[in-house]
Amino acid sequence: MQIDIGIVEELTKREVAALDEKHARSLSYREEAKAHLPGGVSSSWQSWPPHPIYVDRGLGSHVWDIDGNEYVDYHNGYGVMVMGHAHPKIVEAVRKRVALGTHFAQPTEDALPVAEQLTERTGLPFWRFGNSGTEATLDAVRIMRATTGRDLIVKIEGTYHGHHDALMVSVFPSEEDAGPRDHPNAVPQTKGMIPGTTDWTTNVPFNDLESAQQVFAERGDEIAGMIIEPIMTNSGVVMPDDGYLEGLKEVCHTHGAMFAYDEVKTGFTVAWGGAIEAFGVQPDLVAFAKALGAGLPCGAIGGTEDAMRMVISEDLHQVGTFNGNPLTMAAAKVNLEEVLTKDAYVRLDEINAILRRCEDVIARYHLPASMKTLGAKGSIDWSETPIHEYRDLWAIDDRIPQLAWLWQLNRGVFKSPGSKWESWTTSIVMSDEDAERYVANFEEMAAAITR
Ligand SMILES: Cc1ncc(COP(=O)(O)O)c(C=O)c1O
Repeated sequence: MQIDIGIVEELTKREVAALDEKHARSLSYREEAKAHLPGGVSSSWQSWPPHPIYVDRGLGSHVWDIDGNEYVDYHNGYGVMVMGHAHPKIVEAVRKRVALGTHFAQPTEDALPVAEQLTERTGLPFWRFGNSGTEATLDAVRIMRATTGRDLIVKIEGTYHGHHDALMVSVFPSEEDAGPRDHPNAVPQTKGMIPGTTDWTTNVPFNDLESAQQVFAERGDEIAGMIIEPIMTNSGVVMPDDGYLEGLKEVCHTHGAMFAYDEVKTGFTVAWGGAIEAFGVQPDLVAFAKALGAGLPCGAIGGTEDAMRMVISEDLHQVGTFNGNPLTMAAAKVNLEEVLTKDAYVRLDEINAILRRCEDVIARYHLPASMKTLGAKGSIDWSETPIHEYRDLWAIDDRIPQLAWLWQLNRGVFKSPGSKWESWTTSIVMSDEDAERYVANFEEMAAAITR
């Protein structure tokens, strides 16, 4: 059924007014902060209309803003806090390490057990650490170029891999800029990129093996490698079709190119062994970040011995002052060894069983929506047919997911802004009531927009 946009707009006005009323302190603090922080925030994506929410603290599955409002956290710091906030084991590990010194720019003994855990989960033997997802995917690109002696990178249209130039291409291209589907334009995501950067990164639609085969047929001897989120998590949650990932790996290898996963968001969230475990296809390289460090800044690049040989031989310097930072490594060690254990992932499935009741709501109210979940990740797409590639998002009217986000926020569910782009992240410490709150809010909105 068609949703009446007039009703959506009227409800949105009401929800924005209700939100403003609850956030007097956030609103005034933003004005103070603007004096020294552009937009009053530390990253452009911390500000989303109608206004940023300033967070005070988090505990378990809940967060509180500076106005004292409490929420169940489905934002979880863009998918980092799958272990929940201030987990006692993480707090204890960090407390112990702080007292022993937090930075030496020399290796400490915690990095090896973290690498061993990553090997156990992925089967990939060699690891280096950094401080963010951006650094990890930057390393992946550099390794692919250095190893193959080629320059061109293939990515997927509509995926974000961090804020370095090589991959800030066709991240969220508009319909006007994106070009033809069979040969998409390489669209720079930001001002300030050197003209010509986009000559070295091309893109293809997700879930379309033929398009990938086509680009390799046309430019195979220039291609260093392909980097892909095995599940797209910045266009809602988009699952790979059966055989798609295997097919991509094969076409890369047939043409002497490398195959890399960006598991910055899927790592430690969709399954114990990330998407590598969930779909059983091992890439040459994988980038992790986010949930690895349990809330401390982190990143990791791992690979097969062959893929990492230039790092091993020191022909390529993978570097960083804070790489393998002791505080991050202490948190990551206990996170992987004792918190995000195989058993923990059972809880995520239980939470999903409750959240899946939203499908009954969709059916009962005949909403033009569909739902996907895997591990801690999930999204409701405001489209009757599930999103299968980035371009499908263009058909969604932004005003509906924006209202859905506001509706949840006003009723104690904190989700990442970004409406139709963003997926949610649940946590292993969520209660049944935390999940039920989401479903109840969703049903209330369904009734309101279809009245
Ligand atoms: C899939 C993916 N890769 C890489 C990044 C970059 O990570 P960071 O923000 O830690 O640099 C992000 C950030 O959201 C991401 O979603």
